[in-house]
Amino acid sequence: MKLDDLPKGTSVTFNYPTEKDPALLIHTKTGELKAYNSACTHLMCPVFYEKESEVLLCPCHQGYFDLNNGHPIAGPPQRELPLIELEVMDGVVYAAGRKIRHG
Ligand code: FES
Repeated sequence: MKLDDLPKGTSVTFNYPTEKDPALLIHTKTGELKAYNSACTHLMCPVFYEKESEVLLCPCHQGYFDLNNGHPIAGPPQRELPLIELEVMDGVVYAAGRKIRHG
């Protein structure tokens, strides 16, 4: 994933560490990169990046997670989303050493 293709305030889905593990890469409005496995820790619905309020939202039961650390902040989820370590080299984003591909 090239950083140029991911402007601030946008997100992209990918799979990590296997093709069966949905994940979300977010470029926050303040320019930080964050990635989490995106299956909600309540009942596994996919969470989304809410640009307006800079939170992660699970639409199934209105679960909210902190964008900075994945901690649940509202709704039914009790556990945090698993954080994925990122590296940026030459403008390309890698998940803990593995290149992130689109979608
Ligand atoms: S599955 Fe996410 S809040 Fe219920």
